[in-house]
Amino acid sequence: MSFFIGNIEIKGRVILAPMAGVTSFSYRKFMKPFGCALTYTEMISDCGLNYGNKRTLQMCYSNGEDAPLGLQLFGGTKETLLKAMDVLEENNINYDILDLNLACPVPKVTKNNGGSKRLLDQNELFDMVSAVVKKSKKPVSAKIRLGYESVNVYDTCKTLEKAGVSFIMVHARTKKELYYGTPHFEEIKDLKNIIKIPFAVSGNIFTVHDALKALEITKADAVLVARGGEGNPLLIKNINAALNGEEYEETTFEKQKKFLFEFIDLLVEEKEERHALPILKGEAPKFFNMFNGQKIRELKQKITENCSSISEIKKLINEFDYKN
Ligand SMILES: Cc1cc2nc3c(=O)[nH]c(=O)nc-3n(C[C@H](O)[C@H](O)[C@H](O)COP(=O)(O)O)c2cc1C
Repeated sequence: MSFFIGNIEIKGRVILAPMAGVTSFSYRKFMKPFGCALTYTEMISDCGLNYGNKRTLQMCYSNGEDAPLGLQLFGGTKETLLKAMDVLEENNINYDILDLNLACPVPKVTKNNGGSKRLLDQNELFDMVSAVVKKSKKPVSAKIRLGYESVNVYDTCKTLEKAGVSFIMVHARTKKELYYGTPHFEEIKDLKNIIKIPFAVSGNIFTVHDALKALEITKADAVLVARGGEGNPLLIKNINAALNGEEYEETTFEKQKKFLFEFIDLLVEEKEERHALPILKGEAPKFFNMFNGQKIRELKQKITENCSSISEIKKLINEFDYKN
């Protein structure tokens, strides 16, 4: 099944969610072949781009291997967002969809009126988003929450559609709920009748069943895989398999090791070791979360606490003897 975001055809229903500190180019490139119909960058600061911050610009990098790609901006004001769009253009940044982060609950972002704070004032939201849509040469998407403290998701979606947004991703929690508790998919069960543009749903997608349930309740066009995909790329493959009536692929320790080593290769291609190592200490143990027992617990702990280089992490895993 496919659907369109503006003029971009999205050939599938599983999307790699934006995640700060996680969905770098190498992570997207690693996850893409498992069946991501669309990938998103982590949130990128409009002010960082406007100040010419080199690392912010590096976060925008793609050579198209992760396409179709949504580049997500978070911002202070309409003016700073519009200016950041000029910076993207001046630097020939490669992306397919411009996304606005209207979901982030982090105080550093909301205190500057960014992220989920935008959900509070529908007039300002309309003014900002319609200016971005007008300026953008690419389709614009938006990632939202059910609301800031109380739920106003239908009003927000209507505002965004009126402002010209082509796609909405709803994290089915309010800002107040951060990342905890059961997502409230039932709050958007009628969204298909409220807006005409496609939308996707996000929240606690850790199993194939979670994804199918979220799609069934919300009738969304697509589902976002976020934390559940970390260390478990087969989740994306198996959600696709379930949607297409195909067989699931089971994992093994050897497979997980192979996936991790593939990810490591891409990560070190993208980043210097001093930047790659802390990322890996966070991500590598997640590749073994599906295995139980004391030995596995010790392996994960050693990766995080004892390893001071990537080669040490690889050696530790290579020497680990696991019987599936
Ligand atoms: C570490 C982390 C970083 C995130 N960063 C972003 C981000 O940059 N932009 C965004 O829109 N959402 C971000 N999110 C939210 C996810 O995209 C997703 O909506 C949320 O985690 C709910 O999905 P899950 O419960 O399946 O993980 C982040 C979530 C996590 C856990």
